[in-house]
Amino acid sequence: MNSSNPIGVFDSGVGGLSVLREIRRELPHEDLLYVADSGHAPYGDKPNHRIEERALVITKFLISQHAKAIVVACNTATGAAVATLREQFSVPIIAIEPAIKPAAALTKSGVVGVLATSRTLASESFAKLTSRFGAEVEILVQACPGLVEQVEAGDLTGSKTRALLEQYLRPLLQQKADTIVLGCTHYPFLTALIQEIAGSQVTIIDPAAAVARELRRRLERAGLLSEQTSLGAEKFWTSGSPELARVVIGQLWRADVEVERLPNG
Ligand code: DGL
Repeated sequence: MNSSNPIGVFDSGVGGLSVLREIRRELPHEDLLYVADSGHAPYGDKPNHRIEERALVITKFLISQHAKAIVVACNTATGAAVATLREQFSVPIIAIEPAIKPAAALTKSGVVGVLATSRTLASESFAKLTSRFGAEVEILVQACPGLVEQVEAGDLTGSKTRALLEQYLRPLLQQKADTIVLGCTHYPFLTALIQEIAGSQVTIIDPAAAVARELRRRLERAGLLSEQTSLGAEKFWTSGSPELARVVIGQLWRADVEVERLPNG
């Protein structure tokens, strides 16, 4: 494995771009490959074996593109597939999960709210997280059907997105949650709206920057940090419509991008 090889990142769709932007900030010289599995999104309402199947197909594809490490930029795929990926592939695999630990340390009201997909909230890894870090605080969970679709359509501020967020945040705020964990990588693109609805006294937690730092540590440890001095490039694929992806990825990534169709996607 060569340190100049790229890093592979994937999500059920465009949500993982919230992780990709932190990786770009942390590791400006790395080449990055990104797969948006939008043709199969949302993962949140699919059975585990379907998500695992997609994670395997995409990881194989990224490795065929010479990825030296894989970032699972999707909480739902972490819960459903990360153990299998680690069993089957020898490259470093870095995953994201809801940031319960920092939230439990930060809350003053003693109540933490977690927004995530139903699949993440039902996962074994989430149960482990809450039993490990949730002993001292109350953890309220809220599944958010429909939100991923809004972000996939690039609708970050419209009336339907706002109405969904108001509906999902209300019970958490009524029960005095002062810390909200974004447990799905699509949601950081809604942070401005979430903060507006929840109020400035509420802290919103997104673990993406911590994932990027962990990726750096893992690459360093494996001697795989790029020695390039020029800025790295990004390459995008989608299993959905490349035309739509070009528009929405362009909007979220804030640059004109080319998006290719994922082979056999
Ligand atoms: N972005 C995803 C996550 O972090 C998956 C959302 C979905 O496809 O349901 O959970």
